[in-house]
Amino acid sequence: MATNASSSVGSGAAAAASSTAEGSRYWDDVGSEWTVKQPDRLWREYTDRLQIALLDRWLVGSVGDAGDPPPMLLKTDLFDEVAGRGIAGHLIDRGYHTTGVDISPVVVAEAARRNPGLHAYHADVRDLPFADASFDLVFSGSTLDHFATVGDIARAVNELVRLLRPSGKLLLTLDNPLNPLVWLRNGPLLNLVRRFGIVPYQVGVTLDPRRLASLVRSCGLEVRQTTAVLHCPRVLAVRRARRLMMRDAAEQERFLESLSHWERLERWPSRFMSGHFIAILADKQEADQRALPPLRGSIRVDDGPVSRWRRGR
Ligand SMILES: C[S@@+](CC[C@H](N)C(=O)[O-])C[C@H]1O[C@@H](n2cnc3c(N)ncnc32)[C@H](O)[C@@H]1O
Repeated sequence: MATNASSSVGSGAAAAASSTAEGSRYWDDVGSEWTVKQPDRLWREYTDRLQIALLDRWLVGSVGDAGDPPPMLLKTDLFDEVAGRGIAGHLIDRGYHTTGVDISPVVVAEAARRNPGLHAYHADVRDLPFADASFDLVFSGSTLDHFATVGDIARAVNELVRLLRPSGKLLLTLDNPLNPLVWLRNGPLLNLVRRFGIVPYQVGVTLDPRRLASLVRSCGLEVRQTTAVLHCPRVLAVRRARRLMMRDAAEQERFLESLSHWERLERWPSRFMSGHFIAILADKQEADQRALPPLRGSIRVDDGPVSRWRRGR
């Protein structure tokens, strides 16, 4: 499926190639540190569970009957897989043929080592080494909000759309600029919060839900769902999680359980003020496919809270 070797990047224009090289170096440094230290392992367990809950909720029905070929799923970065338990293992267990890419070779190698069923590639999400229509599902969890320009986000979304087969689905999350805390953190207070280690790595531009939906539509997708996730007071939760890292598993579990109650805010009309991430689900409906049913499963319209993971495990 990949059109070049797993350790190579796609052949982009000179400017993109140079920013890919810079990106590789930068994210290698971040990835190396997080791989070894896993400083926020407990917090990352929480974000992993939230992402898994969203995937299970929105991609329900994507895995066909026994005997059907497994759906091809692409994950657009592998940071979760080195910063904590990650979600690739869950996707593989669920029956997805799971491919992951990351711009950092260090992250790719470590994610592959920890997840034997994962097909991991070093690649730039803006220029991926896969053939058109290679994937049934693409999951992009807060990868595209690390670019300097909206043009880069658009380029990445176009690339992901190219890789989707007709009726394939894209689940994308980005930093939510409608949340005043995220807006402050990514804008006026960025230098300050970086100095205090509140943002441990670079953040980029992002889009509000309306502009994101409009971009996704302009790339040829139909938007099915939009919501906001991760509603707990993040800075406080991360600090508390760090303090609990040395405590026993039962106490840690109680903490994660208590955080999950905040996710009920997703049901409120104010969800875009409190959620840290926008999540959008879209599918590829080419003109000649509109009359046909999806090849696998169907999109369930479901506005239930992400806190369902508490019951699902
Ligand atoms: C800080 S992490 C955040 C994403 C993570 N899924 C999360 O939710 O926390 C950013 C990840 O995206 C990767 N990345 C950054 N730019 C990329 C690009 N252009 N293509 C592919 N991966 C990229 C980085 O190497 C890093 O692993």
